Amino acid sequence: MDTRPIGIFDSGVGGLTVAKEIYARFPHLSTVYVGDTARVPYGNRSQDAIIAFSSQIIDFLLTQSVKAIIIACSTSSALALAALKQKYDLPIYGVLEPAAISACIQTKNKKVGVIGTRATIQSQQFSQIINSVDSNISIATKACPLFVPLIEEGMTEGEIPISIAHYYLDSFKKEHIDTLIMGCTHYPILQPIISSVLGRNIELINPGIALCESLTKDPLFSTNAVNQQSSHKWFVTDNPDQFSLVARTFMNSASAINTQKITLF
Ligand code: DGL
Repeated sequence: MDTRPIGIFDSGVGGLTVAKEIYARFPHLSTVYVGDTARVPYGNRSQDAIIAFSSQIIDFLLTQSVKAIIIACSTSSALALAALKQKYDLPIYGVLEPAAISACIQTKNKKVGVIGTRATIQSQQFSQIINSVDSNISIATKACPLFVPLIEEGMTEGEIPISIAHYYLDSFKKEHIDTLIMGCTHYPILQPIISSVLGRNIELINPGIALCESLTKDPLFSTNAVNQQSSHKWFVTDNPDQFSLVARTFMNSASAINTQKITLF
């Protein structure tokens, strides 16, 4: 039995929405999480920068003896996954493909919406994956750059997030989508608002949940070892105390999170 941990990384704290799903779905697995809080956000960065930053994180995770890597960050999954898979000799999973496949399965009218950071939307990766599965699906996309700072400021309820959600999402109404991919780590935190603005009949795809569903048959995530003792470690490149605080919101966690600072550059 391979008890080595799984590495999970993100540009910052947002990837904990994905980690939370992994902890819940695979409670026997140990994990090592890295949040690149010194260089967040990735959403407006160049592809070269995102590949370089992601590589530095993976180099660190390899020192932690991880057996596989999950890229929780949608932006890094969109812009760096292919390069990282070529560079490293261990399994690396991104969140785009499972989310895109889940949307293809969910949509009944073959009209899918995708929201994400500017870099993710400009990469057109979601659209390419969806249309490689089903070329008859039409896709409407929207970058929502204000959502991330809004959530990090804790503004997840009330007039301000609702009016920003209308600003970004109202255009989807004329597209008649029946499914929306929340293509960024942070967005599931706004799920109640997104759902109320778009209408509750729209299916919302949470990439963390879609990823976990896609991993259930993967031997590396096998649940054979249910009695195995798991452990979780968290590392960040800046402000570990702030990370520990915000992490509670992202994971709805009652218990404290002990975060260590690392230097990658
Ligand atoms: N983690 C990023 C993503 O999922 C959002 C925050 C950022 O821009 O770095 O796309």
